Amino acid sequence: MSPRISGTSSNSKNDFILIAHRGASYDAPENTFEAFDLALELGFDNFETDIQLTSDGVAVLVHDDTLDRTTDATGRVSDTGIARIKSLNAGLWFEGPADSAGINGPLAYPEAFVPTLDDFLERYAGKAHVHLELKSRQPELASVAMKSLKKWGWLDQHTGDSIAPGLTISSFHIDQLKRSIALMPNIAHGWLLQKVDNSSLEEAVAVGLSGIYPIAGKVTQKQISDANRAGLVVRTWGIANSKAALKRAYRSGAVGTTVDWPAKAREILASM
Ligand code: G3P
Ligand code: CA
Repeated sequence: MSPRISGTSSNSKNDFILIAHRGASYDAPENTFEAFDLALELGFDNFETDIQLTSDGVAVLVHDDTLDRTTDATGRVSDTGIARIKSLNAGLWFEGPADSAGINGPLAYPEAFVPTLDDFLERYAGKAHVHLELKSRQPELASVAMKSLKKWGWLDQHTGDSIAPGLTISSFHIDQLKRSIALMPNIAHGWLLQKVDNSSLEEAVAVGLSGIYPIAGKVTQKQISDANRAGLVVRTWGIANSKAALKRAYRSGAVGTTVDWPAKAREILASM
């Protein structure tokens, strides 16, 4: 049987959703407009991204605690002001792979910069379902995100079902999820963790989460059926370069997964 695979606005909510992780981040520099635009071009309108706050309280799209790996600067994001972050290059570090679905070779994306959450929400309003990860533990992060989401009209769309346009909020930090749910009770929230067990299921239900997100390489059918029985949606993460993890996520019954190379994942699943 061919898997149902999707990433476009024609999705049914029963499809296996391929979420472009930090954008099409195998093919273009992660968490930049270049990576999200490429995801859309390839037919994937579900994006995952990471936010944290600058020293002056602006939400920016950066995954690591520091700027070292993905920009031409060093230092902690939380110690750096927005004016400095806006001046940085976020594409020079990236070399497009030989089999890129985008541009290959060194200096493939020399103009990429670090978007603010406002930049991002304005650009993709009405175009994508965003899986927004509250990356840091900064106590103000959820309320800063809420203000931006409200400003750009993201709080009144599909929530949790991966239909675009829409929004789902995630985090590894349960305290961050509690804060976010208190501020945005109508938005679907999911907990990123290593694996689903009884105590995480109990906590997820008690907190009011609608999803639970185990790592793909360890997920089992039992974890998913237990979560579903508790009323929780399961999608996975952490595919890295593993085709086996992708197939495991699909076969286990998850509704979808984040993946750095959604176009390649679509081909792999179509050939199963
Ligand atoms: O899909 C969630 C995933 O992004 C979590 O891991 O480290 O890539 O943010 P990380
Ligand atoms: Ca993430």
